[in-house]
Amino acid sequence: MSSRMNRISGESARSQSALHPHQAQSGQLRCRIYRRGRRGRKRTKYSAKFTEPADGIAPESCHPKNYKSQISNYKLLRLPIYPIRLYTFSMAKNWKTRLIHSDAKVPEGFRSLSTPVYRASTTLFKDIGSATDEWNQYEVGYTYGLYGTPTVLELAARVCELENGYRTLITPGGQAAISMVNFTYLKAGDHVLIPHSVYGPNRHFASHVLRRFGVDVSYYPPTVGRNGATQRPFESYFRENTRLVWCESPGSITMEVQDVPAIVEIAHRAGAMVVLDNTWAAGVYFDAFAHGIDITMQALTKYVGGHSDLLLGSITVRDKDAHEKLGAMHQLIGFAASPDDCSLALRGMKTMAVRLAAIEKSALALARWLADRPEVELVLHPALPSCPGHEFWKRDFTGSSGVFSIVFQRQLPREKVMAFVDALKLFGIGYSWGGVASLAMTYDFHGTPNRPDYSHRLARLNIGLEDADDLKADIEQALAALK
Ligand SMILES: Cc1ncc(COP(=O)(O)O)c(C=O)c1O
Repeated sequence: MSSRMNRISGESARSQSALHPHQAQSGQLRCRIYRRGRRGRKRTKYSAKFTEPADGIAPESCHPKNYKSQISNYKLLRLPIYPIRLYTFSMAKNWKTRLIHSDAKVPEGFRSLSTPVYRASTTLFKDIGSATDEWNQYEVGYTYGLYGTPTVLELAARVCELENGYRTLITPGGQAAISMVNFTYLKAGDHVLIPHSVYGPNRHFASHVLRRFGVDVSYYPPTVGRNGATQRPFESYFRENTRLVWCESPGSITMEVQDVPAIVEIAHRAGAMVVLDNTWAAGVYFDAFAHGIDITMQALTKYVGGHSDLLLGSITVRDKDAHEKLGAMHQLIGFAASPDDCSLALRGMKTMAVRLAAIEKSALALARWLADRPEVELVLHPALPSCPGHEFWKRDFTGSSGVFSIVFQRQLPREKVMAFVDALKLFGIGYSWGGVASLAMTYDFHGTPNRPDYSHRLARLNIGLEDADDLKADIEQALAALK
C-alpha cells in the first residue's frame, strides 16, 4: 500500500467500525455531530483512494463506497486533530504523554529577520472537514510536507519574484527539476530537441531514460537561430511530434550563448514549448519570460545557495496551466525539498547581489587577462567577443556570472593541462560551481561528436570570492606547469 493511501485511508480501513479511524484507535474523548454537506463531500473525495485493504480487514470494508457509507452516518465521534486544542481543558497526563503533548509555554511575539525552518511531513488540519491531499497549497492551504512547508514555499515565492514568473516549484536538486519538466511534458511518441551544449546529465537523462519510455530525442547545435546562415535552419530539426525544446544559455562548459528569442519564435510556430536552464544567469541576468521562454529551471545549488553546501532546484512557470501540470507531477514523483536546505538558500539569496557583483568583476578581470596569455588559445566567457554567441549575451543579458572556460593552445598535451589544474593552490578541484570558493576542472571532448574541437584542452574555472589578484597570481604560477 502506498504511503499516501496509508496516510489517508489505510487507518480508516483498520477501524472496522462506523467511527473515524482516529477515534477507533485512540479512544473517544469528544463527540461532534456532522451533517452531510460540503465537508462530507470532501471526505468522500479522499475515499476514492481507499482501494487497497489493510491487513486482516475484509476487502469490502476498505472499499471507497463502504467508507462513504460510514461517513454518511452523520455521527462521527471525533478526536480533535490539533493537540493544542485537545488539551485546552484540564486533563491528567502521564509524563510520557507530556513528552508528546506538552503544556509548556514560551513567551509570544518573537519576530526574526530570517524565515524559520519549518520541518514537517505531517501538516495538521483545523478539522477533519478541511483535511485534503491536494498539492496546490496556494489554493487549499498546507496539506502535507511533500508539497512544501512555509520555508520551502517562501523560497519558491522569492525565486518566482526574481524570475518574474507566475509560480515556482522547488525540487531536491537542479537535475530533479530537469527530469520533472521532461516527465511532465513528454510521453511516448513525442519528440524533444536538446542543444549539444546542454548540461551532461540533462543529455543523458534524455538518451537513457526518455528514449526508454518511447520519446524521440534529437540534439541541435546551440548556435542555431535566425542568424545561422551557415548552418542547417533550425526549422528543419522540428517534426510533427516535437513538443519540447530545451535551451541552456550559455551552455555547460563550452559556453555558447543561444539566440533565445529566435529559437522561441521558431519553436512556438511549430507548436513546441521552450524550457530554459537559467542557472548561469542565476535567474536574474537573463529575463527568460520577457524573451518568450515558457518554463525556466535553475540549479539553486549554484548561485542562490551560493556556498556549495546544498542541492536544490527550481522550476518557474509563466502561467496557471503549467503550474497545474508541474505541481501534479511534483506530487506524483515525490520530489520534496528539504526545508533546512531551503532555509540555507533563503539566506544565500540575501547576499546574492553582492556575491554576484564581486564574482562578476573578478571573473571578467581574470578572463580578460587570460585572453592575452600565450598559453591560451581561447577564452569562453560570454562577455568576451571570443565566446560563441557573445552578441546574444550583449543583446539579452544584464550581467555575467563567474563560470567560464579556457582552451589551451593546440600543442599542449593532456598531461600538461592536468598539471596546470594540479598546480593551482587556491582553486579546488571539484564539480559544481556558484559558491564562494574558486574551482577548476578539465573536460575532454576528444571524440565527442558535434562538439567544438577542443579535445583535452579545456579547463573550466569557477571564480569565487577570493581576492582577484591572489587568484591571478595562483593561475600565473600554475601556468608555469605548462612549460
Ligand atoms: C547548468 C546546470 N544545470 C543543472 C545542474 C544540476 O544541478 P544539481 O547539481 O543541483 O542537480 C547543474 C549542475 O552542475 C548545472 O551546471
